[in-house]
Amino acid sequence: MSDNILPSQKIFSIKDARELSRKRLPKLVFDFIDGASGDEKLAEINSIALDQIRLEPKVLRNVEKRSLKKKVLGYEFNFPFGFAPMGMTNLSWPGADSMLAAERLYIFQDENFVMELLDRAKNTGYEVAILTVDVPVLSRRTRDDKNGFAYPFKIGPKQFFDFATHPTWSLSTLMSGIPKPMNYVTSKSGDGIFKRKESRGSTDWNTLKRVRDKWKGKLIVKGVMSPDDAIKIKEAGADAIQVSNHGGRQLDSATAAINMLPLIRKSVGSNFPLIFDSGIRSGSDIVRALAFGADYAMIGRPVMYAMGADGKKGLRRIVEIIKEEVSTTLGLVGLNDINDVTSEIVIDNTINKVNY
Ligand SMILES: Cc1cc2nc3c(=O)[nH]c(=O)nc-3n(C[C@H](O)[C@H](O)[C@H](O)COP(=O)(O)O)c2cc1C
Repeated sequence: MSDNILPSQKIFSIKDARELSRKRLPKLVFDFIDGASGDEKLAEINSIALDQIRLEPKVLRNVEKRSLKKKVLGYEFNFPFGFAPMGMTNLSWPGADSMLAAERLYIFQDENFVMELLDRAKNTGYEVAILTVDVPVLSRRTRDDKNGFAYPFKIGPKQFFDFATHPTWSLSTLMSGIPKPMNYVTSKSGDGIFKRKESRGSTDWNTLKRVRDKWKGKLIVKGVMSPDDAIKIKEAGADAIQVSNHGGRQLDSATAAINMLPLIRKSVGSNFPLIFDSGIRSGSDIVRALAFGADYAMIGRPVMYAMGADGKKGLRRIVEIIKEEVSTTLGLVGLNDINDVTSEIVIDNTINKVNY
């Protein structure tokens, strides 16, 4: 973040960012970001489960200097969290995708397209690919169906009214051109069109093997909620697993992602890199995830709320807020180094202690 854009002065919390983005974005866009599958309870349960993990304050330790530096997959990060891969981010603010600069990868029916993407990622200098495996079938999202959310956009009277009543979004987005998923538009192997509802059901263990054979860089497999799957993915040669229930946007009757994290940690052993997402809404949630066995955390919707609220300034501010919260939490549990976070900081009666 080397340019001179100052963090937003309008945002003081993730809640604020959500509220501001709700006002600025057309309903159809906000609901796409905020929504979840089925009855939407799992998105809430993810955060409630994190909230139920209570940490033990520790006193009289010198915590004046605190380090948030974390080494994961051989890379040194200044803080232990990043942005989850998200599609159609440009809906929140023009150019949002380059702000996030994340590479994302789904397996579609057309595997050639995925293999082409891997070649392009390699040629562009990407070193890490994330393979998302928890969308073999698309879930039902009621809000999207109700709003007529479709890609490419279908602009009927309802959507026209929605855009017209959110002029700050509509004007800036239209001036920058209607958001396009560029990976598809510039693809040689597909028809250049992103079809969200395209079937991905045929993805299986052989697909993972082919991707692993093809991609020589680091491979993260995202969307894992089963300790048995985790063992098999590790054995298939993945470099890391991202424990995630897609922020409650896929199997709505699944459990909170944080509930599976210690079990998956136990199944893959103490040294295998685990990334966690789903439900993180504060810096202390990140510390909780680390205490439950994650090496690194990723945030989804809060990033979109922040950009939806105030673009790059919003993004910068939300990172600042979360970083500060992680650092404060670390000090209040009596630690100086984020690498020292273990299940020891969790108040005993809230978890079955897992050794890792
Ligand atoms: C608007 C939106 C789009 C998303 N698109 C993708 C995607 O293209 N690929 C993917 O693997 N996950 C996608 N996700 C899921 C996120 O990577 C992440 O798992 C989830 O948002 C984390 O939960 P949280 O929003 O509660 O932080 C998306 C999430 C949102 C909110």
